[in-house]
Amino acid sequence: MLCSSNSSSSTFTCFASLPKLTMDGYNRDGDLKPMDAEQFREHAHKMVDFIADYYKTIENFPVLSQVQPGYLHNMLPDSAPNHPESLDDIFNDVQAKILPGVTHWQSPNYFAYYPSNSSIAGFLGEMLSAGLNIVGFSWITSPAATELEMIVLDWLAKLLKLPDEFLSAGQGGGVIQGTASEAVLVVLLAARDKVLRRLGKNALEKIVVYASDQTHSALQKACQIAGIHPENCRLLKTESSTNYALSPDILCEAIAHDVAIGLVPFFLCATVGTTSSTAVDPLLALGKIAKSNGMWFHVDAAYAGSACICPEYRQYIDGVEEADSFNMNAHKWFLTNFDCSALWVKDRTALVQSLSTNPEFLKNKVSFF
Ligand SMILES: Cc1ncc(COP(=O)(O)O)c(C=O)c1O
Repeated sequence: MLCSSNSSSSTFTCFASLPKLTMDGYNRDGDLKPMDAEQFREHAHKMVDFIADYYKTIENFPVLSQVQPGYLHNMLPDSAPNHPESLDDIFNDVQAKILPGVTHWQSPNYFAYYPSNSSIAGFLGEMLSAGLNIVGFSWITSPAATELEMIVLDWLAKLLKLPDEFLSAGQGGGVIQGTASEAVLVVLLAARDKVLRRLGKNALEKIVVYASDQTHSALQKACQIAGIHPENCRLLKTESSTNYALSPDILCEAIAHDVAIGLVPFFLCATVGTTSSTAVDPLLALGKIAKSNGMWFHVDAAYAGSACICPEYRQYIDGVEEADSFNMNAHKWFLTNFDCSALWVKDRTALVQSLSTNPEFLKNKVSFF
């Protein structure tokens, strides 16, 4: 047996009985060489066994790591080892030193923050991705990466029944971001630059962002990075009578007040599934207000968006038709490894204008915009 567990003490013991591997960075002649394909095959099998056994026994661990801050410092040497170590030794270290410091997000008993569960299919995809190690910063660096990303995001947009403008066949399309925080940042930058192209750069002090006080703090951080004046990020008060959703009336009042004092409303972020209470903002009404005030309307469905592929939950993103951009986190609730946040825009021009560079080494025969 490769793995035994003791549920009373939550221990997890794998590979203790395995013979010492000979394939520890030295080849069979004792020379220090990178692993070859056969060594990889052997080690990878053991790694898969280790992971499979971890999942079989995951409920034996306390979900929340019990270690104290700085625990690992005392357990590891001050500098990196000079010589390679065997995989057995590494597994022993992982069991003794790393697993105690892991909070087990994948445990079925994990209920903090939000779900962030992957799946075995997700692990296999990650393994392939690690093995191919594609660097996909332009089409030519791996055409399959760019094209697969576009195709799969079109599929996902169709599953979510997003309006056709979000599909890549027209002016819009989807792109994978690391996190929802990045997604909101890039659309905020696009919207900022779009409004500043119209008003001139000096208007930066005057442009205003709106969202509810339940909105994820990623928006505030994005405002800081984008140079939005700290007083111009309006997190409008919500209350229990609206289930903590943003009230269209309160938004209208705030916009009217800001316009009256010479400020320029330019960005509204609504949320479908707020982090603390899964509140759902009324997209249709908010979107119409944004449109009538010439604002960019972003819908952050990072948390709850995955559910909306189910016909019975699609209603929660009704009104997304009004949005300029929409994101959901595949890494939250879509059985996909962290990190993978899907972002769609209806018109990629502003995004491309705001964030593109065009050095010689990035030029290639395909342009998607
Ligand atoms: C509604 C919402 N928006 C944004 C985020 C930020 O997500 P990420 O960790 O992918 O940046 C979260 C994460 O909790 C969220 O729940």
